[in-house]
Amino acid sequence: MTEVHGTTSRERRAATRLAGADRFAPVAMPDLEYTDEVARETAHLYERVKDVIPAIEWPVMAPYVKAINDLKKARNAVILAHNYQTPEIYHCIADVVGDSLQIAIAAAKSDADIIVQCGVHFMAETSKLLNPDKLVLIPDTRAGCSLAASITGADVRLLRERYPGVPVVTYVNTSADVKAESDICCTSSNAVEVVESLGVDQVLFLPDRYLAQWVASQTKVKIIAWTGACEVHERFTGKEIASYREANPGVVVLAHPECPPDVIAEADYTGSTSKMTKWVLDKHPAKVLLVTECSMASNIEAEVPDIEFIRPCNLCPHMKRISLPKILDSLVELRDEVTIDPMVAEKARRAVERMINLRS
Ligand code: 13P
Ligand code: SF4
Repeated sequence: MTEVHGTTSRERRAATRLAGADRFAPVAMPDLEYTDEVARETAHLYERVKDVIPAIEWPVMAPYVKAINDLKKARNAVILAHNYQTPEIYHCIADVVGDSLQIAIAAAKSDADIIVQCGVHFMAETSKLLNPDKLVLIPDTRAGCSLAASITGADVRLLRERYPGVPVVTYVNTSADVKAESDICCTSSNAVEVVESLGVDQVLFLPDRYLAQWVASQTKVKIIAWTGACEVHERFTGKEIASYREANPGVVVLAHPECPPDVIAEADYTGSTSKMTKWVLDKHPAKVLLVTECSMASNIEAEVPDIEFIRPCNLCPHMKRISLPKILDSLVELRDEVTIDPMVAEKARRAVERMINLRS
């Protein structure tokens, strides 16, 4: 679900785009008081999240929401937010939301001068790979990922020595160094399609062992896996999911393919974050359990409040480093800039673009 949130005429009046080089000029930190004007100008945005954000919290958020929306227009910036961002980011300031693949594609099409990546570092690197001439900012450089941290470029070179001639398919949840050593990237949305597109009997599949096992269950291609895991999804267990089912008769269970196989065996449907979202919006079950990061349920619930979400609720500590105050700092001070060594970027870009071009 890639969405471009509409801009109201009121928002357009409030913010004037700065000219040319002025878009990168220093600006003062905006006033962050909850005035009547701020309340009025953000009321339509609170409407989008009123079922998932208590009214008492809005006066703290609203001044940031208004300041960010004004400044992103003045600077001709675009905010890309992953499905795991919190509802005030996802519904109130993001221009594009979606899964890793969707935000990478949106980044490739963006004509903004500045990209602010609300997600984790590898996502910001992917945006930079696809937009080498744009200023790409991440509001907190510590927003990492246990999968990206599980493997290095040197590891991939060793694997290639061990398995000569076997193509390397790399999940986008990796550093640019690792992508640079790979033949093609994939996301959880297109992993099976990418593996099968190579027309070979076996592939090295890095770095998520559980995604690798799930892909292996969907294809005849032999999958040689690395041993990484997502620290959020690996904590779920099949037993835990079974007990939620028992306690909630009629609940539909959807799981992300980064979950261990015993969890996937308990699920009614397995798919990427965007595929799970689409499934819920299309089928509209009465009660649903999303076996994934917690904010995704809140983001969907804001759109369909009549669905009951049962929450085992694991948070990604990296995704949660991104907040309204840090996003505003990022836009005011134009930091932190994401940079990639040009030699690494050239090779990594090839692997990402080969994946994106599969769709066109
Ligand atoms: P998606 O590509 O399904 O959004 O997953 C990204 C991710 O980080 C899941 O943990
Ligand atoms: Fe990485 Fe897991 Fe967080 Fe996704 S949820 S960013 S895979 S640690």
